[in-house]
Amino acid sequence: MSTGKVVLLCGSPRPGGNTAQVLGECAKVLEREGIETETVLLGEKRIFSCTACGLCTEGECALDDGLNEIIGKIREAEGFIVGTPVYFGTARGDVTAALQRIGMVSMSSDSFLSRKVGGPIAVARRGGHTATLQELLMFYLINDMIVPGSTYWNMVFGRTPGEALGDEEGMRTVRRFAENVAFLIRKLR
Ligand SMILES: Cc1cc2nc3c(=O)[nH]c(=O)nc-3n(C[C@H](O)[C@H](O)[C@H](O)COP(=O)(O)O)c2cc1C
Repeated sequence: MSTGKVVLLCGSPRPGGNTAQVLGECAKVLEREGIETETVLLGEKRIFSCTACGLCTEGECALDDGLNEIIGKIREAEGFIVGTPVYFGTARGDVTAALQRIGMVSMSSDSFLSRKVGGPIAVARRGGHTATLQELLMFYLINDMIVPGSTYWNMVFGRTPGEALGDEEGMRTVRRFAENVAFLIRKLR
């Protein structure tokens, strides 16, 4: 049973960093549109990589690092947005590790990701946003999810915390993306 909530997963280890601030703006837009949000911080956990143990048929991951708590929140939600900093031209490692396990649990059990609305947001100082977005879209599209567009790709520029909020076009793009997530969720109800 979904709750009408959007879960925003912050993939940065820096609390209050650029990714957290960008997701904070998305959450503000969603709340203004009448959609409840919950932001979860991946940086608080040490995330293991999938071990291909095949034990995730019961809707949980066998690895004990706190990811099941996040999986439980995503399962109940109608939307799932992932924000990641770009590290060496790709998503931060813990983000891809988490998404691979979340996807595996979903497709090995009740496909709870199916038809949830959302998409990725990439934050970087200078380069690697598009490769990162393409990388994360592989997760969304193989898991039967629905990804709305925006007026540009969901990429924001910034290095030190606070800089991303000053990227006017990047922020306009992700605000519109958040509006579109809310728009779709309402349409799908
Ligand atoms: C290990 C590491 C690798 C990085 N690689 C890139 C990169 O490939 N391209 C880039 O533009 N910025 C890169 N950065 C900069 C971060 O993406 C940038 O500072 C971003 O704002 C961090 O987001 P946060 O404040 O949410 O942690 C890297 C930072 C770190 C720590």
